[in-house]
This record gives sequence, structure tokens and C-alpha cells, in this order.
Amino acid sequence: MSDWLIPLAITVATACTVLLAWRKLHSVSLWLAVGYPLKALHVYFTWGNVAHGCTLTRKRRRWRYTLDGLPVLGHASITLSRKRKIRRVDIDKPPRLGIIRPCRLGFRVNVKLMDGQTPDDYAARLSNLAHAWRVHSVRLISWKPGRVTLLATNGDPLATVATPVLSEGLLRVRVGLLETGAPWVLDFRTVPHWLNTGATQSGKSTLLNALITGLSAQPVALVGFDLKGGVELTSYGRRLSAIATERAECLGLLDDLICLVKTRMALCRTNKARNVWKLPEDLRPTPVVVLVDEVAELFLMAHKGEKDEIASTATALLRLAQLGRAFGVYLFVCGQRVGSDLGPGVTALRSQLSGRVCHRVNDPETATMTLGDSDPAALDAARQIPANMPGTAIVVGEDGRWYRARSVYVSEEVAEAAAQAHADLAPKWADLLTAADLLTVTDAELEALAREGEPT
Ligand SMILES: Nc1ncnc2c1ncn2[C@@H]1O[C@H](COP(=O)(O)OP(=O)(O)OP(=O)(O)O)[C@@H](O)[C@H]1O
Ligand SMILES: [Mg+2]
Repeated sequence: MSDWLIPLAITVATACTVLLAWRKLHSVSLWLAVGYPLKALHVYFTWGNVAHGCTLTRKRRRWRYTLDGLPVLGHASITLSRKRKIRRVDIDKPPRLGIIRPCRLGFRVNVKLMDGQTPDDYAARLSNLAHAWRVHSVRLISWKPGRVTLLATNGDPLATVATPVLSEGLLRVRVGLLETGAPWVLDFRTVPHWLNTGATQSGKSTLLNALITGLSAQPVALVGFDLKGGVELTSYGRRLSAIATERAECLGLLDDLICLVKTRMALCRTNKARNVWKLPEDLRPTPVVVLVDEVAELFLMAHKGEKDEIASTATALLRLAQLGRAFGVYLFVCGQRVGSDLGPGVTALRSQLSGRVCHRVNDPETATMTLGDSDPAALDAARQIPANMPGTAIVVGEDGRWYRARSVYVSEEVAEAAAQAHADLAPKWADLLTAADLLTVTDAELEALAREGEPT
């Protein structure tokens, strides 16, 4: 017996060593050559049972060669009432699986929806599918009428994010990676205002750094609100057109921004344009991106005397959010919590910030506050972000779906260097406000337009 046992042991040991070395040297080719064919066979052969277990099957009547039931008559006597024959019976039919196509992260597959199914039926069973297919995660990456595309990933693509921050056109910045392997792009033209929340040390300011790095190279004006004494944004001061680090400065700067919006309204009205993007290129004003680090600081009341100031701040920020989109003023608001406990204006402001980024949170309420409570899976995913993966977040953007994503790590030094390098692109604040003589928009008109923009 030992004649064949020793060569067998040597062959198995050699094969294991080769596979381990291969995985270490080039895991992607190992996956494509060995792992993927085995996984595809596993998925195809188990699909009927998996779909049934996930309640994705539908009953169909099919012709089958079957036996009737075996009725038991009397004491342990069995009688066949009918013979085996072809008849129509109910069977569980799984949805049709398309071709399983390999990719660097794992595999993707199309699934044809059965009668009455919607993409949400699959979105609700992604973790069941991940367990059944023995993969790290399954995501629904796209859908067309009657079909969904699932992406199964072998490992966590967000474990290391090395893609560089890239400016992808005016007001578009690639800040990281989505779990689907696609770049994570913040696009202010599509989603004008963003809310970025998370517990302390979850990666909010690092995302802001990535954004500043990308926007610095673009012809846009950056404005900062940093009531943490300026520690976060002052170092980018040369690229910022204006910065407020104290409450009194905040109100002044917000007044200026409202004034800027009024000027742009007047300009649009004169040129019969509905928004600044419809203006002729030579008249189009510079877009302004307003960065707020720790919004709670704007609303915290040290003593009662600050009540009016805070109310004015809340109103001005809300106005900016309501009107900014049309007049080229965009908001990126960061905070640990952005809830009604901060004051009456905060919930209204939050509802205007349609882009949402929820980093790791300590309590479910913050996740609900940021992501809404429409999709419990998104809330679960936000709560499951581990503390050792800062920068990971749940993102809801232009298509309304949620994605797990991670920002690329951009240190303050790198962001500062980018801000310094493009300091000449920072328009002077006074220059941005010069067109104030055009101002023919009254406060009442501004109010009326803002009300038009309010969500119903
Ligand atoms: N995308 C990322 N990749 C890797 N590490 C990250 C990432 N984002 C953040 N970190 C790490 O987490 C630390 C804290 O990040 P950051 O300062 O952005 O947190 P924060 O949410 O702004 O915290 P706070 O609320 O206290 O200001 C960073 O110093 C960095 O070491
Ligand atoms: Mg921070």
C-alpha cells in the first residue's frame, strides 16, 4: 500500500506548494485559471437549491415521469394506487442564470427575473447568496427591465484603496473606490450638496482632504467653514477664497454667499437663463464649493445670547442649499451627528443635502439620520463598518442606490501641497463679489424662489 501512498503524498504536497506560491505571486491569474472554473461549476450545479433556499424560485407545471403518492392501508401494508406514468406536476423553477463571467474581483452573472420579481427581491437576499456561494460579498450592481447583474467578490476590494485622487472634469472628483470595483466619484453637477457623517476618527476629514486635492486643480472657488478653531482647513488657506473660523465670521461669510447668490440670480434674470449653466460661457460665474467641517459647531450655543446668531446661520445655510444648485454654489457638510438635537433648522438643511456619505457610526440613529430608513440593509452595512477600516462609508448618490465605498487616504500634507500648488487658481473673494451693482433681487424674491426649491 505504501507503494502508491508515498508518491500520492508527494504529489499532493507539491500541488499545494505550487498553488500557495502561485497565490502569493499572482492571485488574479490563479483565480482565473483554477478558482473561477471550479466556482462557476459550483454555482451552476447548486443554483436550483440555492434559489429555492433564498425563495427566489417560482412554481411551474411541467411534464414529469412520476409515481403517485404511496398510501398506507391497514397495518404496514402498502398499495400502489396507480402505476408510474408521465403527468403534469408542480416543480420549483429557479430564475435563469446567465453566463458566469470572471473578473479581477470575483465573478459577475446576470439573472433573469421571474414573474412578479423586482431587483429589490435580490437586493434583500445578497448575504444569503454570499454564504451559499462561499464568497466575501454579493452586490447588485445594475439592473435592466427583467434582469439584474450580480457581482460576487472573493475578498474585500476596499481592504486597500490605492487609486489616486483624480479630477474628472469640472466639479467631479474621484475620491476612492466603490465595492463594485468602480471608482467613487463625487459629482457636484449631478448631486449638488453632500452630507458627510461619521463617528470621530471615521475618515470624514480625510475625505474632505481628497476632495480639496481634486478640486484645487479646477477653476472653482473654495470656501471653508471650520469652527474647530481652523485646525482642519486653515492649512489649505492659500487655495481657499474665504474661510471662517469663528461664529461672527461665519455669519459675515454666509451673508456674502447669499449676496453672491442674489447677484447670480440677477445675472440669470437679465440673460433669461434658468440657471448659471444656461448662461453663455463668457458670462458664467465661477462655481463655489462651500466646505463645512463639523457642522455641529455652527449650531452649538454657549450662552443664550447666541440664539439669534445661530438662527440666522441656520437660515442662511438653508437658503444656500435651496438656491445654490441653480446659481453655482455647492455644499459639502461634514459632522459627527446632524440631527434635530442641533436645532430647528438642521432637519430642513439635511433634507436639502441629497448626496449622503455615512462613515462608521456608533449608534443606529446617526446612520438613519444620514441614510434615511428606506433600506435596512444600508443601515446594517453602515453599522458593520469596522473601526480598523477608516475611510469606509456607505454612499448614496446620483442613482439613489447605496454602495459601500472607501476613500483613498490623502494626508493633510498631500492636500496642503495640492492647495499650495494651485493657489493661483483661487479667485479673490472681493473679485467674486464685485458684480454686486447688478443686484436687483429683493429679499422677498429670494424667499419666494427658495420656497419653490423646498421639498414638499
Ligand atoms: N481612507 C482612509 N484610508 C486609510 N486610513 C484612513 C482613511 N481615512 C482616514 N484614515 C485614518 O483615520 C484617521 C482619522 O481620520 P479623520 O481625521 O479623517 O477622521 P474624522 O472622521 O475627521 O475624525 P474627527 O471627527 O475626530 O475629526 C486618519 O488620520 C487616518 O489615519
Ligand atoms: Mg475631522
